[in-house]
Amino acid sequence: MEVRLAEHAGFCFGVRRAVDTVYEQAKTGKTIYTYGPIVHNEEVVNELTRMGVRVIKDRQELERIESGSVILRAHGVSSEICRLIEDKGLECIDATCPFVKRIHNIVADESAKGSHIVVIGNAGHPEVEGIVGWCSGEVTVLEEPEDAEKFVPPPGKKLCIVAQTTYNYNKFHYIVEIFEKKGYNKCTVNTICNATEERQRAARALAAQADVMIVIGGKHSSNTGKLYDICREECERTYYIQTLDDLHLQLPDAVRMVGITAGASTPNKLIEEVQNYVRINF
Ligand code: F3S
Repeated sequence: MEVRLAEHAGFCFGVRRAVDTVYEQAKTGKTIYTYGPIVHNEEVVNELTRMGVRVIKDRQELERIESGSVILRAHGVSSEICRLIEDKGLECIDATCPFVKRIHNIVADESAKGSHIVVIGNAGHPEVEGIVGWCSGEVTVLEEPEDAEKFVPPPGKKLCIVAQTTYNYNKFHYIVEIFEKKGYNKCTVNTICNATEERQRAARALAAQADVMIVIGGKHSSNTGKLYDICREECERTYYIQTLDDLHLQLPDAVRMVGITAGASTPNKLIEEVQNYVRINF
């Protein structure tokens, strides 16, 4: 029986970079905090906690901290949080993904020039909150095409449109078309990162060939949930597991290929464990 891993699975570039930064810093013996959990994966966060890394939940908690280093996670924070860290004399270690940082720079420049910023994404997501926090002028967050239909820009203002990195490309394109039809003066920067799409495409391709699919990821990870749905469409016997302990496979002899994929917050170590387990036991 063959065990095959999806071509793109697990940590994306930005998350890997941020997580590696925390592990490196944890070894220095300094007092290390992360602003929010570094990744939505309990195993990783628990391991880091054992190494002494503490998680700052919110701004209020940050205000109470007197010394140490604060690591910013891949989806970034607002300029206000950066300033607060600086003003408190804490060391700021910025592990914001460069693709997200690029959006911060675009919106900061464009709002300084007087543009009205439109962020296409989920207003409650920390990445979008961070992006909004780099706009010095007016900003609107739109999540759905219906919101774009209803949106009326301030008169005489140029619009600058960006997207949350994980936003769906087709929907983004559709929203931009709505703005085009309305004839607004605008500049559009497609800031969607293809890591999510690559993972989904690779998962679908593998699931279409697999007899059994295993999807690994945290139970609160929305991108893992999406991977599971995609795999389920192609392969009826798709299993969603958080760790190896959740895997209770009983494979009939007819199974020739088991495919494995993992959400963007699943560490390599766990993917390898599952891969080895299936290889050895079946
Ligand atoms: Fe960066 Fe893309 Fe990941 S923006 S954090 S590499 S999903």
